[in-house]
Parts: sequence; C-alpha cells; structure tokens
Amino acid sequence: MKIALVFLLALLAAGVHAADDGRQLAPMPAAAEASLRAEMRAHLLALNEILGLVAAGKLTEAGEVAEKELGVSAMGKHRSQPFDARPGPHMPPAMHGIGMDGHKAASEFARIAATGDRDTTIAALPSLTAACVACHYSYRLR
Ligand code: HEC
Repeated sequence: MKIALVFLLALLAAGVHAADDGRQLAPMPAAAEASLRAEMRAHLLALNEILGLVAAGKLTEAGEVAEKELGVSAMGKHRSQPFDARPGPHMPPAMHGIGMDGHKAASEFARIAATGDRDTTIAALPSLTAACVACHYSYRLR
C-alpha cells in the first residue's frame, strides 16, 4: 500500500496527466471489464453512502456498508462466473494486490466504525479511498 502511494506521488511530482499518461495498460476480456466497471460503480455508491452515514453520526451502519460492499466480505463476488467475466485473474499481481489492500482497509475501517468512536472513524475515512486512488493512478484498461 505504502509503495503504491509513493508511486502515486512520484507520478504527480513528474506532472503526469491524462494526455501523456504513465499508467500501465492492464487489458482484460470484455466481459471481465464489464464486471469490473459495474463493481466500480457500486464501490462509488457505497463510498457515498458511507460518507453520508458518518456525517449523520450513524457509525454502526457506516461500518456495516463498508464491510459488506468494500471489505473482505465483498471479495470473490465473481467466483461463480466464467473465467472471462472475472476481473481479478486478469489483473497483474501488483494491481490485484492493491485491490486486496483496499478490501482489507475497508474491513479495518468497519472495525473502527463499530467501536462507535466518531473521531477515530472520521480519521480513518481516507483509508477507504487510498486504494481507489493508488490503482486508478497506476493502471488503465484501455
Ligand atoms: C485494483 C485496482 C482498482 C481499485 C482498487 C479500484 N479501482 Fe476503480 N477502476 C479500476 C480500473 C482499471 C478502472 C477502469 C479504468 C479505465 O477505464 O481504463 C476503474 C474504473 C472505475 C470507475 C468507472 C466505472 C465505469 O463505469 O466505467 C469508477 C466509478 C471507479 N473505478 C471507482 C472506484 C472506487 C470508488 C474505488 C475504491 C473504493 C475503486 N474504483 C477502486 C481499477 C480499480
């Protein structure tokens, strides 16, 4: 995770942007890409829901959404699908590792939120988006 963030900072420092983008291409079959994109939109929705719940002081609920939608519990959703429709096995190992780190971070956030401590829960919020940023700044599908 830390290595991914260092990589991100290096990219930012080098002034890399969309036009001459330094991300690594990680192509996958169309069906896997469609699964990945649908999962990503669900992640964004969950993130928005979590932020709203934390803002409203509903920490237990925020932790539950984090675990179910983003946490370790959310892993393996595509396991029963055909190989071509599963994003994970088509990712380079380092990319897959960032995804796993993200699931673990969300479960850790869920554990913190479950304590009901508002300050530590708020302080842990950025850990929910660190993997999103690390992966998006390192990899592209096209
Ligand atoms: C392991 C890598 C990885 C992680 C972690 C990750 N993403 Fe993505 N995401 C991708 C890739 C790759 C794409 C497609 C980029 C492209 O078009 O080339 C994508 C696309 C998306 C899209 C666009 C979906 C569409 O309909 O095209 C959204 C929204 C998104 N991600 C949200 C998130 C959020 C929110 C998180 C964190 C909770 C997250 N992603 C974590 C790899 C990742």
